[in-house]
Amino acid sequence: MVRGGIPTDTMRSLLLLSLFTVAPLAAEVTYAKEVSRIMQAKCQQCHRPNDIAPFALSTYEDAAAWAEDIKRVVNAGLMPPWKPVAGHGEFRDSFALTEQEKIDLLAWVEGGAPLGDPANLPEPLPAKGDWSLGEPDLTVQMGEPFTPPRGRDTYRCFVLPTGLEDDKYVSAIDIVPGNRASVHHVILYLDSTGKAEELDAAEEGPGYNCLGGPGTPIVGNLSLSDLGNLASNLAYTLGGWAPGTRAHLLPEGIGIPLSKKARIIMQVHYYTNVSRDPDQTRVGIYFAKSRVRKPLFFLPLVQQRLSIPPDVPDHVASMNLTIPFFLDNHVINIFPHMHLLGQEIKVEVTRGSEAKPLILIDKWDFNWQGPYTFTEAQGVSAGSTLRLSCKYDNTAGNPRNPSNPPKQVTWGEGTEDEMCVAFLGITLDRFSF
Ligand code: HEC
Repeated sequence: MVRGGIPTDTMRSLLLLSLFTVAPLAAEVTYAKEVSRIMQAKCQQCHRPNDIAPFALSTYEDAAAWAEDIKRVVNAGLMPPWKPVAGHGEFRDSFALTEQEKIDLLAWVEGGAPLGDPANLPEPLPAKGDWSLGEPDLTVQMGEPFTPPRGRDTYRCFVLPTGLEDDKYVSAIDIVPGNRASVHHVILYLDSTGKAEELDAAEEGPGYNCLGGPGTPIVGNLSLSDLGNLASNLAYTLGGWAPGTRAHLLPEGIGIPLSKKARIIMQVHYYTNVSRDPDQTRVGIYFAKSRVRKPLFFLPLVQQRLSIPPDVPDHVASMNLTIPFFLDNHVINIFPHMHLLGQEIKVEVTRGSEAKPLILIDKWDFNWQGPYTFTEAQGVSAGSTLRLSCKYDNTAGNPRNPSNPPKQVTWGEGTEDEMCVAFLGITLDRFSF
């Protein structure tokens, strides 16, 4: 809009003036414009009614009331609790904050947490019930509530018939604990032998005790050589849940086989130090909506030979698995698992001198674990090696150390034992229909 008549100098000072007065305003971060959108994308999946966070961050009033805490937890990297380190695998549905989102959140709090112009507010997200993926296709649950006995660790298995009339492919499962204070983890095994029902009938009360595993023939540590046995071993688990686990749909065309004959055995680990209220945990099952061409297999990378000495802050355990001829595969998702001494867990694929990271979690937190689904399936060709390594801090300086004084720790299911596991959900390149 440069017109004749206005001297250039005046123009320049007008321009400068407008820059100076407009710039700070334009930089003001408001709830209506930026923060509400960050809350929707990165916080509300948990901070909503009926979910795991202790309060909602659905409205301006919510966010403003928590502003100082938001600044503290974002600065400290505690929230959102997204664990994989950037640059080591790329995952779908990430709720990690981008640098810009982080800068905006902090600037908003420092600027006095203004609402801004309500006209800029986005539509609120549709309300969801207990299930983060919406109403499941099938819900199964314990027949009656179970009250765990007093004691630190109880492992109880419940047999859940599905009532299915056809074989199905499962695209996602979600688990809603009946008592969030006592349910420590849940693993869903599958049994088609009828053995689980026998075990259940032999014990009083709902379910049966099952430390270590469901007590039925399962393909526990499926090694790649077992995969020759594909038909009978098609699936032995539907997955699991631990505090912080979010449900994810598998990519299209991939599903976990669920035979109509199978019973779901739900193993629940109760930790009753806080609460002994009855529990009735529910499982929501989402079936694949489009044709499945590739079944998902679970390949556990496991190092059971653990011997973690006391007073060592950085003990490392690792294992390698070289993919045999013909078993080229793609990794769809990955679920790393350790207990309370764990500090860092890493999985990579190596081939010759090349190493490709699959996942790295460098601030392991038992309370935040779950499966991470790759944005793109990760090819692992025959001849390459999957390498898992786990690092532990078994000193008194580790505030999570369950043993005081620290003691020698070995592999086991108990809270005081340790594990070094990564469950890989894979498809086999030569196995599709
Ligand atoms: C995956 C679920 C999840 C997501 C995503 C999440 N939170 Fe949380 N948040 C929780 C849970 C559970 C707690 C309570 C337990 C805890 O502190 O770990 C919590 C606690 C908090 C607290 C209180 C912490 C304290 O020390 O008092 C704040 C503040 C918070 N979250 C902010 C946020 C913000 C801001 C976001 C998004 C940028 C976010 N959270 C994303 C689950 C989540």
